[in-house]
Amino acid sequence: MLNVPPKDNKTDPLVLFMPSGKRGRFPVGTPILDAARSLGVYVESVCGGRATCGRCQVSVQEGNFAKHKIVSSNDHISSVGPKEQRYASVRELPDGRRLSCSAQILGDLVIDVPQDTVINAQVVRKAASDRVIERNAAVQMCYVEVDEPDMHKPLGDLDRMKAVLEKDWGWKDLLIAPHLIPQVQGILRKGSWAVTAAIHRDMDSSRPFIVGLWPGLKNEAYGIACDIGSTTIAMHLVSLLSGRIVASSGASNPQIRFGEDLMSRVSYVMMNPDGREAMTKAVREAVNGLIGKVCAEGGIDRHDILDMVVVGNPIMHHLFLGIDPTELGQAPFALAVSGALQYWAHEIDIEVNRGARLYMLPCIAGHVGADAAGATLSEGPHRQDKMMLLVDVGTNAEIVLGNRERVVAASSPTGPAFEGAEISSGQRAAPGAIERVRIDPDTLEPRFRVIGVDKWSDEEGFAEAAAAVGVTGICGSAIIEVVAEMYLTGIISQDGVVDGGMAAKSPRIVPNGRTFSYLLHDGDQRITVTQNDIRAIQLAKAALYAGIKLLMEKQSVDHVDMIRFAGAFGSFIDPKYAMVLGLIPDCDLAEVKAVGNAAGTGALMALLNRGHRREIEETVRKIEKIETALESKFQEHFVNAMAMPNKVDAFPKLAEVVALPERKVLTDEGGEGGGRRRRRSRE
Ligand code: FES
Repeated sequence: MLNVPPKDNKTDPLVLFMPSGKRGRFPVGTPILDAARSLGVYVESVCGGRATCGRCQVSVQEGNFAKHKIVSSNDHISSVGPKEQRYASVRELPDGRRLSCSAQILGDLVIDVPQDTVINAQVVRKAASDRVIERNAAVQMCYVEVDEPDMHKPLGDLDRMKAVLEKDWGWKDLLIAPHLIPQVQGILRKGSWAVTAAIHRDMDSSRPFIVGLWPGLKNEAYGIACDIGSTTIAMHLVSLLSGRIVASSGASNPQIRFGEDLMSRVSYVMMNPDGREAMTKAVREAVNGLIGKVCAEGGIDRHDILDMVVVGNPIMHHLFLGIDPTELGQAPFALAVSGALQYWAHEIDIEVNRGARLYMLPCIAGHVGADAAGATLSEGPHRQDKMMLLVDVGTNAEIVLGNRERVVAASSPTGPAFEGAEISSGQRAAPGAIERVRIDPDTLEPRFRVIGVDKWSDEEGFAEAAAAVGVTGICGSAIIEVVAEMYLTGIISQDGVVDGGMAAKSPRIVPNGRTFSYLLHDGDQRITVTQNDIRAIQLAKAALYAGIKLLMEKQSVDHVDMIRFAGAFGSFIDPKYAMVLGLIPDCDLAEVKAVGNAAGTGALMALLNRGHRREIEETVRKIEKIETALESKFQEHFVNAMAMPNKVDAFPKLAEVVALPERKVLTDEGGEGGGRRRRRSRE
């Protein structure tokens, strides 16, 4: 393997690699690739410096980098030699790009290692937070030229190939996937003794493994990052050599036919002798189907997929792996296995290359799964100086709170209200669903937006535009907004009761048995927000907040510095309204961000950089898990959190940007949303 130690000779040229920022001095004439390797800067190479794969491309940043005391110029790198010329004539080398295996250091340089070395590729790896995922994939493709057999040296073909893999690439103690052994001779001869071996260097055994073998130069390898959600399976197909996302797609989880939510799927397993097997088969088929879809989209042969990383909540994790999830349905919610796992992909019926590996991220606890571990890896509370709250809201909210000192995690049973279930006019986010709501504080008239229609409901042309999709219900983001707006406009009190007295002020307040409802839309479908709807939202948000509060107590903090909302729900809710409702604690709104499918991003990170596998394994080992059901203070926090935004906790940062209704001190039972006695107003 190419390698030279950095020299400490002060007169040697100084080379700075970007974006890693690593730097060192190297003698004139050192190939850039060798300099990068010696500093631990990851630069891909398949051909081993023969200038044939083109994977080692870099470019020179010209200019005076005063901060680094470097004047960098293309004059400080050797001119394009015959090997690079030959490559450029066959395979096109973009302007400014150099092959780092051939280009040599002549003077001080700032070298840019592009993260998108595939020409014309979609630019890589900007995760939600604009972090570049540095590549260090578990699979490395290594081209070698093997000595032809010699009667006087009776070493086997495989053994001679291993010897040259050690000599050229430094691989010691190589193992080989058994299915390849019968193929070695044929592949070597087909390639005229030149082959490319795929080496997997992240197996349970510390020994590297030959997992694939091709005649000649095989200049590509792909990986799959997959997030198995209870509703949706999301997948990225990625080039392991460039980091380029080739295709991304999603599909419904077919297990829905066995049960809408997680617990009903566990019940299905308990009630049906073949239930576990049927659900395992269904999800594996769906994953295989989705692999077919992303491969077709990217024009890739599925047999070129050599590595996979999968995340999912504990029940999805268990069912995918063929493990009975029954224990997860009841206390003490025992996981069959919590640590990271490695498989041959074919062992779990995944149809990719026979030598492909599959890595499952660790689970954090019985209700906080590998998906939460993925989100943690992506957002990195454990990398922060400040206190970060990471929340993934679903029927079960997963909550992680921490900084580089300490991370704690819990789950809270929020129920399906945030997803539109248990709400009289609730529905999933789909065309026709109301997604945004504003209420005029004077007239109490609403205006809203509907998925699939650009205009607000009070804008000209809305009725025509909405005719195609209709106005069919309220989805999760709008439920948060409408209840928050009802609170801000005084339609509901701090304890969540619809004020019947408002009926005199607005025809929107309508009686509904012994309570009142708010009429949001009166069309083909009459959409109201009932007292029961508000109660369901209060219960859900109180469960979430109580869980967060327990974690804050464990951390001995009275506020959080930043909040990250993971998951689809988080992408659509407006943080301001979530805070008005008291779903999340007070925080500078600029520090509250939706981060999309952070679990999937975490899977992608672990796929592209095996260092992230170690990072999350170690982090999960250290995370302290809190079981909310066992905490005596949960109930007290829950009752306080039934009020809007909270019976006891202040929201000073929110109050700077939103005119919150005058806060009342409620009686003990006041937080539960009944008819309330109020002692006195608080300033
Ligand atoms: Fe293959 Fe440079 S390492 S072209």
